[in-house]
Amino acid sequence: MVKTDPPPPKQNSLLFLLSLPILLALFLSVAWYQLDSFDAAPLPMHELTHDAVAAPLLNARILQGSDKIGAGKMVGPEDVLYDSGTGVLYTGCADGWIKRVSVNDSAQDSVVEDWVNTGGRPLGLARGLHGEIIVADADKGLLNVSEDGVIELLTDSAEGHQFKLTDGVDIAEDGTIYFTDASYKYSLHQYPLDILEGRPYGRLLSYNPSTRQTKVLVHDLYFANGVVVSPDQKFVVFCETPMRRCKKYYIGDERKGSVNTFVDRLPGFPDNIHYDGEGHFWIALSSEATDLWHFIQNYPFLRKIMGIVIKYWGHLPPILKSSGAMLADLEGKVIEHYYDPSLIYLASAIKIGDHLYAGSIVNPYIFRLNVTRYPATSSA
Ligand SMILES: *[C@@H]1O[C@H](CO)[C@@H](O)[C@H](O)[C@H]1NC(C)=O
Ligand SMILES: *[C@@H]1O[C@H](CO)[C@@H](O)[C@H](O)[C@H]1NC(C)=O
Ligand SMILES: *[C@@H]1O[C@H](CO)[C@@H](O)[C@H](O)[C@H]1NC(C)=O
Repeated sequence: MVKTDPPPPKQNSLLFLLSLPILLALFLSVAWYQLDSFDAAPLPMHELTHDAVAAPLLNARILQGSDKIGAGKMVGPEDVLYDSGTGVLYTGCADGWIKRVSVNDSAQDSVVEDWVNTGGRPLGLARGLHGEIIVADADKGLLNVSEDGVIELLTDSAEGHQFKLTDGVDIAEDGTIYFTDASYKYSLHQYPLDILEGRPYGRLLSYNPSTRQTKVLVHDLYFANGVVVSPDQKFVVFCETPMRRCKKYYIGDERKGSVNTFVDRLPGFPDNIHYDGEGHFWIALSSEATDLWHFIQNYPFLRKIMGIVIKYWGHLPPILKSSGAMLADLEGKVIEHYYDPSLIYLASAIKIGDHLYAGSIVNPYIFRLNVTRYPATSSA
């Protein structure tokens, strides 16, 4: 008798059955990808080279020797504003509180006090000309908080677009308020989608307190972030986070209204920018531009997948690392770089005496480092 082999169809059908869920999942993912309205766009790659500017002086381990100010008494103290007259530092937190922190040489002796709650998410802070604090509140718009804590909305829309993410602010000597709306499409809790989508929904704006007029100065910015007025009142610097650059908008001379580069090819993503009163700007970098970011920035479909992951799972994949701050001169030349591979999300930096103080969008404290003791030194 001829022996027949055991019938192979059984194995095949088993394989087929096993692969069904995988095929189904694949089919659903493709359908999901096709249907999702999140539509990532190509970024202007010619403006985004891989090589970054390097500061001649570095401290690449700023956690070493650092303190935590107000630890556990604040959540996400994003911007920091120092009032040298009273020795008080103001910071805006994720729970809506603007807190006052008494600056003390000893970290433990810094007293944290709740000042006012905007009911929104205070990001950028600037000192007004009449003792008030002007607040770029991500949820509410541009606010005036008077010395005695009364909150007034100054503006929350321009040219028919409501602000979705009012972000950075500074005030010129003539009283004009310069500020950014990072996006008129995405609010703060959706900000990774704005960055992954790669379309310019950000704007640089001005508000004139005497006419109460809001003007759009520059349209089509990629996540418009920190703002600072130059000490000579000739220009305003504003940062575009995913483009890893800050630009100048001229306000003061014959170039008035024109825009050019202040600094580009930054090694990370710029957030707030502040003047130190001594010829330099501090630019906070929330993360370095990691290899993974460099890779996905080229491919809208990868950014779309990541956007869908964030939309439906709520978590940012680990594409960020190493946060810090750079010191640049008035021409935009970087001089010093303070950072640490284990830090992420530093959002603002200022220097008070020997110390660098840095806010953060997520940390429950203000980061502090004595940079006289732990300076940036020659990297060569
Ligand atoms: C720091 O706090 C200590 C103890 O509370 C106090 O005696 C000292 O005056 C404070 N220093 C400053 C600079 O505020
Ligand atoms: C903010 O409010 C205070 C108190 O009403 C006022 O004196 C100040 O001029 C206001 N500032 C702006 C920029 O509107
Ligand atoms: C910062 O460090 C320097 C050098 O170690 C020290 O002399 C200075 O007192 C420190 N500053 C403060 C405010 O602790």
